[in-house]
Amino acid sequence: MKRKTPIDSWMDTLRPSSLVRRFASQIVDAAASTPVLDVACGSGRNAIVLSQLGCTVICVDKDLTKLKIEQLRLRDTLLRKASEQLSILQLDLIKDAWPFGARSVGGIVNVHFLLPALFPFFEASLSTGGYLLLETVPGCGGNHLQLPKAGALRSAFEKAFDLEFYKECKVGPPNYDAVTVKLLGKRRE
Ligand SMILES: C[S@@+](CC[C@H](N)C(=O)[O-])C[C@H]1O[C@@H](n2cnc3c(N)ncnc32)[C@H](O)[C@@H]1O
Repeated sequence: MKRKTPIDSWMDTLRPSSLVRRFASQIVDAAASTPVLDVACGSGRNAIVLSQLGCTVICVDKDLTKLKIEQLRLRDTLLRKASEQLSILQLDLIKDAWPFGARSVGGIVNVHFLLPALFPFFEASLSTGGYLLLETVPGCGGNHLQLPKAGALRSAFEKAFDLEFYKECKVGPPNYDAVTVKLLGKRRE
């Protein structure tokens, strides 16, 4: 197998989630001129795609180091503008108060950071017609211990969202109820 070069590793860091790639245009179009939140943005790999498509993105994370490194690395590339246009907000999503008002954001992307306590805030802050894209961590290693039970995320969101895409995959030992979830929901009226 070919050894990875530093550029290969960098491209891996930047590669957005396939779910975000698939639905990015739809999320941006629905958001119109309102900002999209990238909740627990990490390096900003998902936010940069949305920004590249012309959307205002607010990147939220308790540790913005990776995002700032990425912005530095991208300053001599075609992604400079998209990365520099990101709004950045340092926030501990467990300890700090949710700062976004009712119906104030046009979309929410929440990849590989699952915190059910945030779900009511997602519901409240998303404008009608805006999309929530949520993807749990994959089911490798001991991840099943932090993954939701089958049906739990569907139940959490189906009242307020039209789930236009919803995929669960069972993970972990046969007698353990845990699934990975990928979902795209459109906020109802
Ligand atoms: C696995 S990374 C996922 C990053 C990004 N969403 C992605 O798909 O690449 C999880 C992120 O959650 C952030 N995080 C962990 N605990 C947090 C907290 N309490 N408040 C805000 N961000 C947190 C970490 O700093 C990290 O950037």
